[in-house]
Amino acid sequence: MKYHIKNLQLNLEGQKRIKWAEREMPVLRLIRERFSHQKPLKNTKISACLHVTTETANLMIALKAGGADLVLCASNPLSTQDDVAASLVKHHQIPVFAIHGENRATYYRHIQAAIAHQPQITMDDGADLVSELHRENSRHYSLKVWGSTEETTTGVIRLKAMDSQGKLRFPVIAVNDAKTKHLFDNRYGTGQSTIDGITRATNILWAGRIVVISGYGWCGRGIAARARGMSAQVIIIETDPIRALEAKMDGFQVMTMAQAAKIGQVFITATGNISIIRKEHFANMPDGAILSNAGHFNVEIDLDDLSKLASTVKNIKPNIQEYKLKKDGRRIYVLGQGRLVNLACAEGHPAQVMDMSFAGQALAAEFLARNYSQLDKKVHSLPDKLDQEIAQLKLKSMDIKIEKLTAKQQKYLASWEAGT
Ligand code: NAI
Repeated sequence: MKYHIKNLQLNLEGQKRIKWAEREMPVLRLIRERFSHQKPLKNTKISACLHVTTETANLMIALKAGGADLVLCASNPLSTQDDVAASLVKHHQIPVFAIHGENRATYYRHIQAAIAHQPQITMDDGADLVSELHRENSRHYSLKVWGSTEETTTGVIRLKAMDSQGKLRFPVIAVNDAKTKHLFDNRYGTGQSTIDGITRATNILWAGRIVVISGYGWCGRGIAARARGMSAQVIIIETDPIRALEAKMDGFQVMTMAQAAKIGQVFITATGNISIIRKEHFANMPDGAILSNAGHFNVEIDLDDLSKLASTVKNIKPNIQEYKLKKDGRRIYVLGQGRLVNLACAEGHPAQVMDMSFAGQALAAEFLARNYSQLDKKVHSLPDKLDQEIAQLKLKSMDIKIEKLTAKQQKYLASWEAGT
């Protein structure tokens, strides 16, 4: 079996942590048990490009139980947990191509290894695998693909752009758009783990700190609520007037980045957009400002421009780089090289939310294996029935019962005659 990981000797540590995560993933466990009997992915080649974490390991194990022939590579150079990669290779015979801290060339070489597997189904977190498959030199491989699944907002945006230009060569299921994904994973998962990542890297006290959050989408709302819960003073930056209003009415201060740059102490970007914190903002930041990003790509903070303004750039602690500005000696600190701070500086989302996101991935793969020939080469939603099924299973695992509509209520909701 071919693989490329940091150190196979780390496998036992990885195995313990994968099992720890499994305790919090009851929905995925039920799916895995069903898969192991029904084998819905028998002889299906799957290449996954996901963050190599304990939760992803549990997804890989479930897919393999379903009969899939799998390969895994990383969806970010800094998110790989090397012990998890070692355990997947050693204990589950799943080839992994991922090393924490790999450079860009190695990152893409690993994606090429996943493509060389000649997958029928691909799984992405950010659409790097699908976009590589659409390059001309991969045409031969892309023709074998039945379909793909996508985990995150940024990936869905890229795929919808390909779709609108008529470029998609196979159907894609936008797992991110399922309610059981973004309502929980992006909000509660990114919300909590972003605060966790910044705390682990810096050990700052949040109480009373001025925290500037760019983007009041699913992730931004989650981060803002948790920062407020830690008694921080939270400022929101938005471009969408409705979300800006929502932030204001949720009790946050709302302003422009130019205004916030002068007073912010911790900055967190979560927009999925580019150049959110720029040259003109660095010029006005207080000494000691901490910058971090929770959006998918490391393009939200203009680090090249920050480097040009700096006389020195030093690693002063794991995951913290100090940029000392030429002009006046002010120091600006960047966490995790501007990459997803919750994965670069902590362990990513808690398993309990990934349980639902990855239940969505597993069911999307099964759905694709059954239905790909009837799907257009477009971006599709996960069928609502599957979304509901995941929520039902999650509630069941938490021993929560909910009300059922009575026949009278169903009839009332479907009628229009009864009024005032
Ligand atoms: P979303 O679309 O719900 O929210 C993004 C928000 O950013 C929108 O309200 C938009 O109006 C705002 N925005 C765009 N440009 C802006 C600008 N120049 N200034 C201020 N606000 C701006 O997206 P969601 O789901 O919150 O995802 C955000 C990013 O986080 C994406 O890149 C996504 O892939 C990523 N993500 C990261 C995770 C992690 O583990 N760190 C997990 C899930 C998503």
